[in-house]
Amino acid sequence: MRKRIFLMRPKIDNRELELIKKVLFSKILTEGEVTHRFEQRIARYVKARYAIATTSATTSLHTALESLGVKGKKVLVSDFTFPATALVIELAGGIPILVDVDKETMNVTRETIEESIDSSTRFVLPVSLFGNPLEKDFYKIRNQGVRILEDAATNLGTKLENKYVGTLADVTCFSFHPRKIITTGEGGMITTNDKKLADRCNSYKMFGKVGTEFVKAGTNYKISDVLSAIGLVQMEKIEGIIKKRIAQAKIYDELLSKIDFIHIQKPVKDARHTYQSYVCYVTRPNLRDKIRNKLARQNIETQIGTYALHCLPAFRKHRRKGKLENSEFLYKNTISLPLHEELTTDDQEFICKIIKEF
Ligand SMILES: Cc1ncc(COP(=O)(O)O)c(C=O)c1O
Repeated sequence: MRKRIFLMRPKIDNRELELIKKVLFSKILTEGEVTHRFEQRIARYVKARYAIATTSATTSLHTALESLGVKGKKVLVSDFTFPATALVIELAGGIPILVDVDKETMNVTRETIEESIDSSTRFVLPVSLFGNPLEKDFYKIRNQGVRILEDAATNLGTKLENKYVGTLADVTCFSFHPRKIITTGEGGMITTNDKKLADRCNSYKMFGKVGTEFVKAGTNYKISDVLSAIGLVQMEKIEGIIKKRIAQAKIYDELLSKIDFIHIQKPVKDARHTYQSYVCYVTRPNLRDKIRNKLARQNIETQIGTYALHCLPAFRKHRRKGKLENSEFLYKNTISLPLHEELTTDDQEFICKIIKEF
């Protein structure tokens, strides 16, 4: 049997271990100085005024939605995403309305959202997926009086022109799950330039405290300094990680361009796509799963792109705009290929050779 080719392998070495050791021996294991340094590091990196760490992107999104005050309000949300994006709208008492994505960029567009906005729409929750940003024009929907919470769980380090994702929307959430650009094991971060919102997020994730007073409802979404230590070291590596992923994506682009039934995700104009996932779709019906099964038999891990929420039991009865055909097509036909530090050009050639055999 050939060696296993993993879908993702985080870039971890002794440096993470050294800082974890320091935190452990400091005996301050909850959120403390190391987390605050991690927050400042992310804020500096994306050039946002405020960064608030939580235990995951899911809890970051939930905190942001509670702080925006979506209770009883409609929230337009991308249908093509990981379920957490919309589940937390319901947790926060909002009403998710599922909208379709563009088949090529795999993200929601300004046009689709504008068609879906009515006089009672106040919030939009777009997802920038797999390292590809939203189009620049997208953010102009703010002129219609809506606030944008961007789920950029996959998009730390993504740039649009020269601006990092993290300041383009009113508020942005990132994930540090091991399949993301950098990891803390589990972890998330909210970034914003809005002081009031940042204060509310900080309070919500800390039992609803303001200073030393418990002022209103909140919860405990604090991340441990042990995990933030991993994040701080990972941030020293982020640009190297992204550079390597872009180079490996170019190799796939070249190899897959010779296969007529494979279509790759289109990077948005003026983007630095970071390829958190290398996602393409199979144009021949019912072939995607056969390809995945054949790769699995060769010990090669793959994944689907992501989910069409309206196809899942949790969202079958939810309100939606239109037929959500692109999202459903992508759910059924996308494939995410291995991409990480340990992947060699030989591995990439082998993977594409197997796909080509169809
Ligand atoms: C688009 C998107 N949003 C949210 C999440 C949830 O992230 P976390 O696992 O950090 O809660 C994910 C996880 O894969 C995701 O892909």
